[in-house]
Amino acid sequence: MCGIVAYLGKKIAQPILVEGLKRLEYRGYDSAGVALLGSGAIRVKKTSGRISALEEILDEPDSADTLGIGHTRWATHGEPNTINAHPHLDYTGKIAIAHNGIIENYGTLRKWLETKGTEFASETDTEVIANLIGYFYDKGDEGEQKKQSDGQNKFEWAVQHALGELQGTYGLVIVCSDFPDMLIGAKKGSPLILGVGDNEYILASDASAIVEHTTQAIYLADNEMIVVDPKGFRTKTIDNVTVGKELKQIEFSLDQIELGDFKHHMLKEIFEQPKALSTCMGGRVDCRNHRIVLGGIASYLRELTRTKHLILTACGTAFHASLVGEFLFEQLARIPTETEYASEFRYRNPIIEDGTVVISISQSGETADTLAAVEQAKERGATVLGFVNVVGSSVARATDAGIYLHVGPEIGVASTKAFTGQVAVLTMLAIELGRRKHISSDQAGSYIEEFSLIPDKISRILEQSDHIKQIAAANIEKNNWLFLGRGFNYPVALEGALKLKEISYIHAEGLPAAEMKHGPIALIVDDMPAVFIATKGPQYDKIMGNIEEVRARGGKTIVVATEGDENIKQFADHLITVPDVPELLQPMLTVIPLQLLAYHAAVLRGHDVDKPRNLAKSVTVE
Ligand code: G6P
Repeated sequence: MCGIVAYLGKKIAQPILVEGLKRLEYRGYDSAGVALLGSGAIRVKKTSGRISALEEILDEPDSADTLGIGHTRWATHGEPNTINAHPHLDYTGKIAIAHNGIIENYGTLRKWLETKGTEFASETDTEVIANLIGYFYDKGDEGEQKKQSDGQNKFEWAVQHALGELQGTYGLVIVCSDFPDMLIGAKKGSPLILGVGDNEYILASDASAIVEHTTQAIYLADNEMIVVDPKGFRTKTIDNVTVGKELKQIEFSLDQIELGDFKHHMLKEIFEQPKALSTCMGGRVDCRNHRIVLGGIASYLRELTRTKHLILTACGTAFHASLVGEFLFEQLARIPTETEYASEFRYRNPIIEDGTVVISISQSGETADTLAAVEQAKERGATVLGFVNVVGSSVARATDAGIYLHVGPEIGVASTKAFTGQVAVLTMLAIELGRRKHISSDQAGSYIEEFSLIPDKISRILEQSDHIKQIAAANIEKNNWLFLGRGFNYPVALEGALKLKEISYIHAEGLPAAEMKHGPIALIVDDMPAVFIATKGPQYDKIMGNIEEVRARGGKTIVVATEGDENIKQFADHLITVPDVPELLQPMLTVIPLQLLAYHAAVLRGHDVDKPRNLAKSVTVE
């Protein structure tokens, strides 16, 4: 949440910052701003609202401004108005900063600065950082500066000194008007990447703001800072110890993050799923030898085969994928598995014994709760694996080993292809562990064969998009929906309800279908839509009973069923079909119609699908 971008080079900074902010807008869109610096004073332009609102108030780009910082905000401290928008200036007006994260001790620091006579303009924790740097810059003890000197100038020293006082998380970009060719960045708990171009540098929250300019990047680690000037860049810890950094290749291209012919990123990402899953499976599915090859965790497979306690931890959509994983590991590999919300796991007193393995699942690899759960599990001695999409992200780096989803960048705030990618990776691991301990090689081979056909089968479901749009239109006035599934499709019901809530703001509940009669059945009134996942499988007859229960009370049934199931037609007010696959592979198919249903409902209700209200793609605060 919150996107930051900074530019130092030979080009005019303003358009580069605005373009970068647009790419980062999925991280927050309450307010936005830029600070520009050529020679002379820093000029800040900021406003509440989106980047488009910022564009309206910007002056013509000035060719002297070859240094600048920008920010798009998801408010934590202080309402999303213009005063609280970033960048923030210090009280001298010489320092400007943009910040992603939360400063926990900002109250104490603010009081301390106020005792020194500093006045604050905003309610933000960020202004405290600006003023603290400003204070050290302005009044910093000369002797202390000399001691610290070794090549540092006053600006760098003041930043470093201020960072030492901060508790909490930050990704920071900082400029000072006395140093119009110097940019400083710092990272603790929020991502920060330096794109290294041809005599130009872009420092940003993620690679999407960089890739248009260069594919070479430096990934900062926590407690590191970077000082960039026309001669190059230096990385060091915030305690002033030099750190060497390797240039890494950014793994995706510009067209992967552009809309192309699609109206929304979410729709593009839904339709990308066949290709994304093929890439995710690439080199991992060996149909001939009935094997799954997972290079990233190869040396942990023995431990996984032996473990008697597996914990999956995640948030949001990734949590629902993890629930599917729990069913898979227990059924195929007979490993006792628990799925925990990362936000709960981190504050509980989890039982981690010898041999417990924790797998953290995350699209972004930056979710604060998920990262904290990883740290908690590590502290308690567990082996911790990370199944993440974003290469080089914090979870990827914090875990012992992992598997990348390789589904390509996901921009739409409502997660879609990451879900199917997460389930695919969990399925691959469960099949491989199953083959090693519980199921026959032939059985594993048949699952692998079926699994490899999933991308094509998803394509067939996508062909029903217009039909699903009509179903959404027929029910668009309804404000309460139920999503019901059993077994492997129960987590899919949860995910279907979450998708609808997130982007169409329709109230929806996901439930195991049999639980309905223990309370939620009271909600069913005339024409209330109930979405059933009633595909062929061991619980088919049971869920038919649940469908009858809803119909008897006047509910309207939208049924996701297996292709060729003639019997179910009479029970469905609306029918969507998916190809036949074994039950344990169904979630990758049954979720697709629910993604499309939520998408079309949101568009029909006139909402901004890619930027739903109050949400952010990457929740880097608690
Ligand atoms: C946010 C997003 C969700 C996402 C969740 C976990 O809440 O809006 O779409 O599922 O974070 O994100 P992660 O990046 O850890 O998978």
